Order: sequence, then structure tokens, then C-alpha cells
Amino acid sequence: MNIAQVDYDGLIPNNVALGQDVRVKRALEKWHPGYLNWWNDMGPEGFQESLVYLRTAISVDPKGWAKFDYVRMPEYRWGVLLAPQMEGRKVNFGMHKGEDAWQEVPGEYRAMLRRLVVIQGDTEPASVEQQRFLGKTAPSLYDMRNLFQVNVEEGRHLWAMVYLLQKYFGTDGREEAEALLQRRSGDPDTPRMLGAFNEKTPDWLSFFMFTFFTDRDGKMQLEALAQSGFDPLSRTCRFMLTEEAHHMFVGETGVTRVIQRTCEAMKEAGISDPYDIDKVRKLGVIDLPTIQKKANLHFSLTLDLFGNEISTNAANAFHAGLKGRYREDRLKDDHQLESGTYPVLRLVDGKIQNEESSALSALNMRLRDDYVADCNNGVGRWNKVIEQIGIPFQMKLPHVAFHRHIGEFSRTNADVDGNILSPAEWTKRRTDFLPSAADKEFIESLMQPQFEPAKFAGWIAPPKVGIDNKPGDFEYVKIA
Ligand SMILES: [Fe+2]
Ligand SMILES: [Fe+2]
Repeated sequence: MNIAQVDYDGLIPNNVALGQDVRVKRALEKWHPGYLNWWNDMGPEGFQESLVYLRTAISVDPKGWAKFDYVRMPEYRWGVLLAPQMEGRKVNFGMHKGEDAWQEVPGEYRAMLRRLVVIQGDTEPASVEQQRFLGKTAPSLYDMRNLFQVNVEEGRHLWAMVYLLQKYFGTDGREEAEALLQRRSGDPDTPRMLGAFNEKTPDWLSFFMFTFFTDRDGKMQLEALAQSGFDPLSRTCRFMLTEEAHHMFVGETGVTRVIQRTCEAMKEAGISDPYDIDKVRKLGVIDLPTIQKKANLHFSLTLDLFGNEISTNAANAFHAGLKGRYREDRLKDDHQLESGTYPVLRLVDGKIQNEESSALSALNMRLRDDYVADCNNGVGRWNKVIEQIGIPFQMKLPHVAFHRHIGEFSRTNADVDGNILSPAEWTKRRTDFLPSAADKEFIESLMQPQFEPAKFAGWIAPPKVGIDNKPGDFEYVKIA
């Protein structure tokens, strides 16, 4: 069978020869109805019958893996797709470096590997749950379609992780696959596993910030897992990354279009002071300082996903060859890190400073640094738009110590520049940095649906080009 082609004949599209793997095929078929129940209960509310112009993966060939067509979301063909196996692939880091990559789970790493898969898997349905009401306030059919595309692909990412659980982890894998359908984002009794995935995504600016910042964490985690010595995990994550690129696109262009519209409206109205918030808001656009506050919130919540700066779990997963660094295969060192060091930002005697730590225990910090650099590139592109229109304002990432709940800075209150504040000062100035109730109320007041083809809500600019090169008046969602 040609791995690049996907078998679409059965219930579950796949390129893993599921037809010959009766046990796993049955297990997935048994899990399928529960998944559909979950999707119908927790997926996009009010649009399950609508026809959405979606892409579906039909191949894993990087040059042309998707086809576009109108689909009702519950009928989307969620499938199991792995990137092609690379002949002679080795474990590329850690104590097993140089051994053949594992096609089965090494017994001694079973628990650690299962946990990595479950944690990644748990984030996928969580974001669908967080975004389930957004369709109703979509600023255009184009944006609505992009939201639903992200949603169905997060659903597929859940399938990807559940396939690994069912195929490689026996009874406990099956139980974990069930539990992934039971937890609910934000539920006090059965929450999702990670904090940022229990937060609300109440408006479209939050959605764009989430896809910019939090899906980008997803990208970093997938990049690190794509390096895994456990080959099926590596291949799964490599294909997920092709889909993830679109989620980054939605976030980055979404925020850019909001910024662009604000700057254009200011220019037209002759407002040059970005801090003249009342005047800017009267134009029906979101003022730049509030956009900055939203970025502060989502960036800080997402940094918590990287865990403690110093982590034995991260060290163990690397040492074992299960989770590598960002683009491990392109780094030039011994890939074992037994003796190296890495600078880690720490809070020492009330001051934030760098301390050299063992490179192996500082892997979370390192991945976070790579993440921050990647975010900064995106912020630079936002600033180009502001500059081109000629508004004197620059977006920037807050200090990594700002508004943290996990790790080194969780016990202190830092402002966006990294100055340590007293608890009283923090309380007083909190809404200088983070959206206030009034900010949220203002943003929510703008969230009026715009469902006419070719039209966009007044607070966001139209995109430069359509999806799949469709013209501007294309009906991306036929609402039923
Ligand atoms: Fe995902
Ligand atoms: Fe994503």
C-alpha cells in the first residue's frame, strides 16, 4: 500500500492498514460513537447541520494532501494519518542515541510515553470545547469557516492520539481513550489536564490570540514529540504539524486584521494618539492598548503550559529518547546533554536573574525560549502593519515573569517589564496589564454576527486572499 494515499473505504480513513489490524480497528470503531456524541454535545453549537467549505486530508504527501469541499461537520472524515516511515530512522538523542527507532513501546518507558500521549491528546478536544460558542458571533463566513476548520482538525488530532493509545497501550490505553471523551474544559469536577485549556475563549479576539499563542505551544510540543525515538509518535506528530500550520495562520492573520482595521479607522478619523481609547472605541474598533492586554493575557497563560523551568520529568523524557528539543535534528551538539549547561531565569533574593543549570534539567526552559523567539517573530509582523499605516505604537510580549501560575515566577507579582510589584501594587495596577471588566464588555459589544458573504464586521479587516483561492464573495458556510 502506498503510504501517501489514504484508505477511504472503511468507516475510519487511514494510511496505517487498519483493515489488516482487526483488534485496533474494532477498538476504534467502538470508540467512534462516543466521539460523535462528544462532538455533537461539545462541538460548534448551532452549526452542526450547516455545510462548511472544509479541507480534508486525503494524502500525507506534503505537496497536495488536502481536498476542499462542503461538508456537514459531524460527517467530516476524521482519520488516522501518519507521515511516511523514514527508512533506517534512529533514536537521535538521549541515552539510546544511535539505536534503531522503536516501532513498539519499550517496556521500561511505557508509563512515561503514555503520559506524554495523554497530555497532548487532552489539549485537542479541550480547545474545541473552549471555542464552541464562537460560531454565533463570527465576524464573517470566512472567519467562521476557519474556526470550524481548526475545530475539526483538533478533533482529528484527538483521533491521532487515540490511535496510539489503542494500538500500543492495551487496556490502559483504551481507558485513557475513554477518559479523553469524559473530561470537559472548565468543568470544576472533571477539568482538562492543563490550565490554559480550562480558560474561556469568550470572543473572537481571544480566539485569534489563542490560535496565535496557544496553538503555537501546540506546535512546539509537536515539534519536540516529532523527534521521538518512538517512531509511531514521531510520524503522527509530523503529520499533525502540517495541519497545525493553518492554525498558526488563522491566529496570526486574525490578530493582524484586527490591528489593521483599528489603525485604518484611526487614520481615517484623524486620530493619532493610540491611547485616546474613548475616541478610538467610538469608531467601533478595538484600541491597540486593549489588544496588547489581550496578548499579555494569552501569552502568560500559555507560558504556564511549558511547566517548571527546572524539570526532572523533562530530563527523563529526553534521556529516554522520548521527547526531544525543538528541531533536535538540526542542532549541533552531542544530543545527550550529560555535561552541558543552560541559562535559566530564576527569582533569586527577589531579583530576576539568569543562572546556569544543567542542560538536561532545563529542557522546559529551553523549549519555552524557542517558543518566545517564535512568538516574537509574529509580533514583529504585527508591528510592520502598525508602522505602515503610521500609528505610533508597538506591540510587544510581556516579560516571562508576568502573570504566571506555574514555575519560578508563580509566587511573585511582576509587571509586563519584569519589575517585581508588591501585592497591593499588583492589585492596583492589574488592569493596566490585563483586560478589565470594562474592556471585556466593550469587546463583547462588538461581537455581532456578520453572516452575509463578502461582508465583515467593522472591527476586522477582510483577508488578503480567500481560502483555496476563492473569490471575496464566496459562501464559505451555508448556514442551515
Ligand atoms: Fe491540535
Ligand atoms: Fe491546533
